[in-house]
Amino acid sequence: TEETLVLVKPDGVARGLTGAILARIEAKGYALVDIRLVEPDRARLERHYAEHEGKPFYEPLLEFMMSGPAVAIRLAGNRVIEGFRSLAGTTDPTTAAPGTIRGDFGRDWGVAVQQNLVHGSDSPESAARELEIWFG
Ligand code: GTP
Ligand code: MG
Repeated sequence: TEETLVLVKPDGVARGLTGAILARIEAKGYALVDIRLVEPDRARLERHYAEHEGKPFYEPLLEFMMSGPAVAIRLAGNRVIEGFRSLAGTTDPTTAAPGTIRGDFGRDWGVAVQQNLVHGSDSPESAARELEIWFG
């Protein structure tokens, strides 16, 4: 088994989609090991998004992530890192496949790409690093 870090981003919480997102995660058979409502400060987000520092969307991304509460989830399951990213869909909600969280719930009008509802770790190394940041 394997663990990953999932975040329901502030847009997902604000739109009342936390339950719908959790339902998909649970239906897939993944186990909720830990879950908490978080209001991340800048320092935590700088650690979490270190790989994106300097990119054009970095500052707007941090501002967005500080715009309201998020939900952090420690999730376990067989190949859950790859599996959750498959459930989430590709980064841009406009082109994310129907049937995915971003494809079904992500808005493509009046909002930026960063408002894509969820985050999921992208490798075992990222998962270990990110779980330490949010649950360590
Ligand atoms: P995460 O699971 O959130 O890490 O998404 P990802 O792995 O699909 O995307 P990536 O790690 O490349 O980027 C992290 C986050 O930055 C994305 O989820 C978006 O919220 C945001 N982001 C990425 N690329 C862009 C972009 O080109 N423009 C804007 N505005 N935001 C972006
Ligand atoms: Mg990523």
